[in-house]
Amino acid sequence: MLIVVNFGGQYCHLISRRIRDLGVFSEIVPYDVSVEKIKNLNPQGIILSGGPSSVYGKDAPISDEKILSMGIPVLGICYGQQLIGKQMGGKVVPNSIKEYGKKKIKIVNKNTPFKGLGKEESVWMSHGDAVEELPKGFVTLASTDTCKNAAIGNFEKNIYGVQFHPEVTHTPKGNLILENFVFEICKAKKDFDIKDLAQKIIKEIKEEVKDDHVIMGVSGGVDSTVAATLINLAIGKKLHGVFIDHGLARKYEMEEVKERYDRLGLNMKYVEAADIFLDRLKGVTDPEEKRKIIGKTFIDVFDKEAKLLEKECDKIKFLAQGTIYPDRIESAQPSKQADKIKSHHNVALPKNMKLKVLEPIKDLYKDGVRKLGEQLKIPAELLYRHPFPGPGLAVRILGEVTRERIKVLQDADYIFISELKSKRLYDTVWQAFAALLPVKAVGVMGDARTYENIISLRAVNSVDAMTADWAKLPYEFLEHVSNRIINEVKGVNRVVYDISQKPPATIEYE
Ligand code: XMP
Repeated sequence: MLIVVNFGGQYCHLISRRIRDLGVFSEIVPYDVSVEKIKNLNPQGIILSGGPSSVYGKDAPISDEKILSMGIPVLGICYGQQLIGKQMGGKVVPNSIKEYGKKKIKIVNKNTPFKGLGKEESVWMSHGDAVEELPKGFVTLASTDTCKNAAIGNFEKNIYGVQFHPEVTHTPKGNLILENFVFEICKAKKDFDIKDLAQKIIKEIKEEVKDDHVIMGVSGGVDSTVAATLINLAIGKKLHGVFIDHGLARKYEMEEVKERYDRLGLNMKYVEAADIFLDRLKGVTDPEEKRKIIGKTFIDVFDKEAKLLEKECDKIKFLAQGTIYPDRIESAQPSKQADKIKSHHNVALPKNMKLKVLEPIKDLYKDGVRKLGEQLKIPAELLYRHPFPGPGLAVRILGEVTRERIKVLQDADYIFISELKSKRLYDTVWQAFAALLPVKAVGVMGDARTYENIISLRAVNSVDAMTADWAKLPYEFLEHVSNRIINEVKGVNRVVYDISQKPPATIEYE
């Protein structure tokens, strides 16, 4: 395995994923990782990520320089290269010209890291500083017209640095450079194969759980379904899945979830809790208050169920969660989404319960979870569906959440989503849904005046939900959906299409 030391670069996760895509396990560690910890992990190579700081900056993240003398091959990327330059006795200065975007590099040394590359290659640059004087034992491997040491290396120590980003697709031969480092220099072996992974995880669960039982809150989403399926394959009925129906799901969603879990053979308990949720939401219109009430109610209901199950079965010793890798690393950039997902999906430990936590997919990224799900024969329809927020339709019903308003929204949303699917547009957008606005508008139906609800349709394209652009769906399609909603959904006389970007808007409405 390799470790990626995180200096706060936006591409840190991407580096780790690229390594895994090469078939080698990789783990991200924070920049202040100790030499001891690295020794324990016993990596075959270390990658120092990029980062927004300057190595001479006041609060610059500086890793222990002993990392560079452990005898483990190192590749520094961008900030990582500058840190190598500084810590090994070279000189790093602000480059006379800041280089951002596409650049051409001239390869002056075609030894290992650059084996198989041409004389000149396109790369993606993003830096202000540069290594001006090389540390002892280092040579220049590549240059640009404005940066002499665009790549450096010390062949004896197996320490290399690149000023550009090999992990991004804008560096076409970047993967080859990473491959050279991983296989030729670190001598790592391809053994991180998603096909073997399911068997490996199942074996680990069996070893960890032994004769005990496991309780798990399952949401119907990708992560918890994949995690529950793995645990089910490992321990069968000793897994007690709990699904809390908050009454805020999409139309037909509940039936689908039950049918799916039946087919997967999960030992499930379905808790009808819509009354409690809707009761507590009565009269509440403030978005944050809604979210808080729903989060707390989830925990209360789960807590009660967990205690009941514990009474029935004194062997419950584990609480399983569908936590995935980006949810958990301390060094990850905190994102609004990650925060939210944590408070709503990963049900907190029930009060007074001393359960051990079981997180079978904690080392995987979303794409890995999906691939694993395919191996486990979980339907693609579930694995590749659009994200859905933990608080459900409550954050898409602006104003008060009532049964009547839930029904209006469910019906309109169902038309939009099924039309997207039937016109093969569903997979072309990142996320789509309908929202119910908190105002009414005048209309005319037949000869009569109406005063009814407005539905807003939202469809966005995004990569990671941090930014999003509204999807340019065809006018004819939107017209068709609007007509159907106004004709078929009682209580709606107007449909609008949301054309706001994130930022400054968000994807959801609340
Ligand atoms: P925003 O509205 O912040 O949403 O642009 C970004 C992404 O996160 C999803 N989202 C949530 N997911 N629990 C979740 O599991 C939540 O509470 C939550 N809130 C927003 C949203 O659907 C979008 O994909």
